[in-house]
Amino acid sequence: MKEPEIKVAVVTGGGHGIGRALCRRLANDGALVVVADIDESAASVVAAEIGGVGKALDVSDEKAIVALVEKIEKAHGPIDMFISNAGVGYGDGASGAISAEGGMHPIEDRWDACWQVNVMAHVFAARAMVPRMLQRGHGHLVNTASAAGLLSQIGDSAYSATKHAAVGFAESLAIDYGDAGIVVSVVCPQAVATRMIGIEDDSESMEGGFRGNDVDGIMRPEAVADIIIDEALAGRFLILTHPQVTTYVQRKASDHDRWISGMQRFRKKLL
Ligand SMILES: NC(=O)c1ccc[n+]([C@@H]2O[C@H](COP(=O)([O-])OP(=O)(O)OC[C@H]3O[C@@H](n4cnc5c(N)ncnc54)[C@H](O)[C@@H]3O)[C@@H](O)[C@H]2O)c1
Repeated sequence: MKEPEIKVAVVTGGGHGIGRALCRRLANDGALVVVADIDESAASVVAAEIGGVGKALDVSDEKAIVALVEKIEKAHGPIDMFISNAGVGYGDGASGAISAEGGMHPIEDRWDACWQVNVMAHVFAARAMVPRMLQRGHGHLVNTASAAGLLSQIGDSAYSATKHAAVGFAESLAIDYGDAGIVVSVVCPQAVATRMIGIEDDSESMEGGFRGNDVDGIMRPEAVADIIIDEALAGRFLILTHPQVTTYVQRKASDHDRWISGMQRFRKKLL
């Protein structure tokens, strides 16, 4: 039997949504998958289903990431692919981009939570993994940002700004280490049918909570996960799971001011 290309993988936020689909795909390919999530019981359920390892992890805790990497490599060997997939978004409050509070899930400071989980967690994972991967001369770092990291999401300034930062950090990683054997990929999906966009049926069924919700452009987590793994293994940096995002990015790049006017009109329409 052919050896799997990825023998050991870590997926943060692997307990639900896109992360869970990534875990299933990697396990299906023959990898030992570490399902790491702040929701420990969800991580355990997914790990049991795929024969992986479930771990409680808060990605905003650098020491916890370092400890996880050390433990896993000691017990199971080198981590070939580390996917920083966990992410949070809360929505702007009533006053828009300048709001201090969040919308759907008010917390003390949604900017701080978004910064820690959407950006610093990627930095922490890279700090833990890059020296090991450089020594081995290979490895994959896959960082989930969002189309909001290229185009901005109407109604969530903290999410948009931190996802832009995540794209920028991944670019730096690729520039600094991409020619030393570390394949860096940044994932920028548009809508995916998960709890993040209010699809509440997050049952543990293989349907991934999609429930036939065919709203324009929404993709199933399973389809998104397949594109992510295929393209990461092919060595692609920018993984655009939704083809229309390529067109939007090209339009934005060709005339930024015109793009802002278009977004203003789109926002009015949404309101
Ligand atoms: N769903 C979409 O439309 C969409 C679009 C673009 C990008 N994304 C990104 O995809 C990634 C996965 O999101 P999803 O749609 O599957 O959402 P989800 O809410 O279904 O899953 C997110 C997972 O991250 C975990 N998580 C949250 N905070 C954590 C922390 N501090 N430490 C560890 N785990 C934590 C959650 O418990 C959950 O299992 C996120 O980075 C998100 O920003 C999602």
